[in-house]
Amino acid sequence: MLIDYQMMQMNMATATLLLVTGVAAAQPAGINYDESKVPAYKLPDNLVMASGRPVASASDWTKRRRPEILRLFESQMFGRSPSASAKLDFELLARNDKALAGQAIRKIVSIEMSHNGRKLKAELMLHLPAGAIGPVPVFLGLNFNGNHAVHPDPSIPITKQWVRNNPDLGITGNRSTERSRGSAASRWPLAEILARGYGVATIYYGDIDPDFDDGFQNGPHPLFYKPGQTRPGPEEWGTIGAWAWGLSRAMDYLASDKDVDARRVAVMGHSRLGKAALWAGALDERFAIVISNDSGCGGAALSRRQFGETVERINTAFPHWFSDTFKQYNGKEDDLPLDQHMLLALIAPRPLYVASAQEDQWADPRGEFLSAVHAGPVYQLLGKQGLGTSEMPAVHQPIMKTIGYHIREGKHDVTLYDWQRYMDFADLHWRVSKSTFGVKK
Ligand code: GCU
Repeated sequence: MLIDYQMMQMNMATATLLLVTGVAAAQPAGINYDESKVPAYKLPDNLVMASGRPVASASDWTKRRRPEILRLFESQMFGRSPSASAKLDFELLARNDKALAGQAIRKIVSIEMSHNGRKLKAELMLHLPAGAIGPVPVFLGLNFNGNHAVHPDPSIPITKQWVRNNPDLGITGNRSTERSRGSAASRWPLAEILARGYGVATIYYGDIDPDFDDGFQNGPHPLFYKPGQTRPGPEEWGTIGAWAWGLSRAMDYLASDKDVDARRVAVMGHSRLGKAALWAGALDERFAIVISNDSGCGGAALSRRQFGETVERINTAFPHWFSDTFKQYNGKEDDLPLDQHMLLALIAPRPLYVASAQEDQWADPRGEFLSAVHAGPVYQLLGKQGLGTSEMPAVHQPIMKTIGYHIREGKHDVTLYDWQRYMDFADLHWRVSKSTFGVKK
């Protein structure tokens, strides 16, 4: 039985709650799950400049308001990522043209990122449909437990990186073993995705930045320290910023691979990695579709609702995720100059999909939905439809316009149902069909 990440990854010292496979054993004190107790709030308007001037045209949005909002997320929440570029070296470590019983071509690619004489290496695992007759669209996402956890195939190398201890998966001393092979396979339904003509690229998130508060000594941060600097400044990137940066380095690789259609790369992430996917999609407009799976607080959910996880709670349990400046909003959501509908609006006019799960109250499904609703006016200004409704749908009633949304039954997780909807959404926007790639559906 997989222990839910909400439990596994939580800072145990501060956790009074533990959620096991989606069942709330106990809830942390001071967390609201009652819709009638959501405070009255007023969201900052995406279409009003900080100066009070309305955003009157698409060019006003693109040239003025969008950069203004992006700066707010950099200075007040995720922190600024480095403006300098790392030098990148790609090396094909392994290629198997008959992977997954002949269904896929698998490439394992090392991405070496260097700057200021320091290096970081990540291993990207790419599966492409074996029958493809041209470059294919790809879903890109970071994974939680290592590439070897994505599929039970014994030839996928086990990560040597730091991993969170988990006795159920045989992980002690922060090192992975054979026991975790395939343990996240239900979250990565490779056979179904490949059969529909899509490729899948993934990197273990710990290859980019291990998920613990080490004062920013590992991961990409030290590559960009100025002489004498030992940690990011108050407005500089935290760990979510680092994961988002890593997604862009993966995109750099995908853009260089002639088997990949780089104009059709969807960035997707679950939970904390959904927060990272949204931030990556905001910063890097090469991501043609952006998908948030149960990203919750700091992701798609509106902070001002203070339903489920709050700003204070997330900053306390995960002090390394955001910039130091974000901590000033602990218990003061109304003082935020931004909210998460503004992060979603940064994706416009590109297709955006937000997904929730019914039992995932910690992530505030309604707050995720409303955020998508309130991003709508920006899509409309840019000639797109947004979600096309402000009424929250019932479970398993997906909405698919330029913004997509669904809420499914069940717990905080990524399921085949979620993936099927993401593929339907990509089919719709990219007009993917059997004939496009010569892949049998
Ligand atoms: C914790 C955290 C969430 C996060 C989740 C996850 O529950 O509080 O913000 O999304 O872990 O990444 O699974």
